[in-house]
Amino acid sequence: MPAFDPKKPSIARVYDYLIGGKDNFGPDRDLADRLLAISPSVGLIFRENREFLARAVSWVAEQGVTQFIDLGSGLPTEPNTHAAAQSVAPAARVVYVDNDPVVLSHLRVEAHRDPTVMALNLDLNDAGDVLTAAAGHVDLRRPTCLLLGAVLHFYPAAAGRDLVARYVSALAPGSYVAITVGQAAPGAETDRMVSLYSAGPHPVRIHSPADFAAFFGELEMVPPGVADARIWRPGRERVPAPAQRATWTIAGLARVPA
Ligand SMILES: C[S@@+](CC[C@H](N)C(=O)[O-])C[C@H]1O[C@@H](n2cnc3c(N)ncnc32)[C@H](O)[C@@H]1O
Repeated sequence: MPAFDPKKPSIARVYDYLIGGKDNFGPDRDLADRLLAISPSVGLIFRENREFLARAVSWVAEQGVTQFIDLGSGLPTEPNTHAAAQSVAPAARVVYVDNDPVVLSHLRVEAHRDPTVMALNLDLNDAGDVLTAAAGHVDLRRPTCLLLGAVLHFYPAAAGRDLVARYVSALAPGSYVAITVGQAAPGAETDRMVSLYSAGPHPVRIHSPADFAAFFGELEMVPPGVADARIWRPGRERVPAPAQRATWTIAGLARVPA
C-alpha cells in the first residue's frame, strides 16, 4: 500500500487536481501543472471520463443492476458512483476499492454516513481478496457492475487483460464491466507527458484501440462499443465523430453473457 507522503505526488491527488478537486498538495499540483503545460486538455479528458462513468452507471442501474464495484475509485467527486446509481435506483450498493490513504479516509467517512457504501483499503491486483471482502456488501450471485475508470493505463496490456479476466470470472451472467483509459496521439508531446508521469512510481502506458478493446475479452459490448468518452451514449449505434484533439478518454461498457 502506498504510504501517505504529502511531499510526493500521488496518482489519486494528481487526478483530483486535474479534474478540479481540492484534496491535493503542492507536489501533486506541480506535477499536474507540468502535465497541463504539455497538454492543456489533460484535465478536460478526465472530466469527460467522469461524465462517461456517470452515464454508464445510471444506464446500468436502469437495466436493473444495482450493485457496483468501483476499482481504483479515486477521491470523492460529483457525481460519485453511488450518487449516479442511486439517482436511478435509490437502494443501489457500491463497494469502493482504493489503496491511497487520502482516498480511504474520505471513503470511510462516506461509508460511515451511508450504509449503501463500503470502502475497501485493498490493492485491486488482489482480485480474490477484493471479491471476498466485497461479498460482504454485494451479492455476487446477482449481476454486478465492475468499474475500472482511468486505471488500466497503469498496466501493460497483457496484465490489464489478465486482471479484468480474473474479476469477470467471478461475476454473474448479466453483469457489466465499464473501462476507461487516457489516450494521446503519437508524437513528441505524448512522449514528454508519458515520461514525465512515468518518472514516478506508476509508469503510464498509452494503449492502442485494439489493446483497449481486448480488455473486454469475450464480453458483449454495449452499443456504441469502444468510443471516445465524449460521444459514448448507451444504446446508440451512430454517434457523431468528435473533433480531433491531442488527448482524449477511450471508454467502453460490456455485458457478461448468460
Ligand atoms: C486516475 S484515478 C481514477 C479514479 C476514478 N476511477 C475515475 O475514473 O475517476 C486512479 C485511482 O486508482 C487508485 N489505484 C491505483 N492503483 C491501485 C491499486 N493497485 N489498488 C487500488 N487502487 C489503486 C489510485 O489511488 C487512484 O485513486
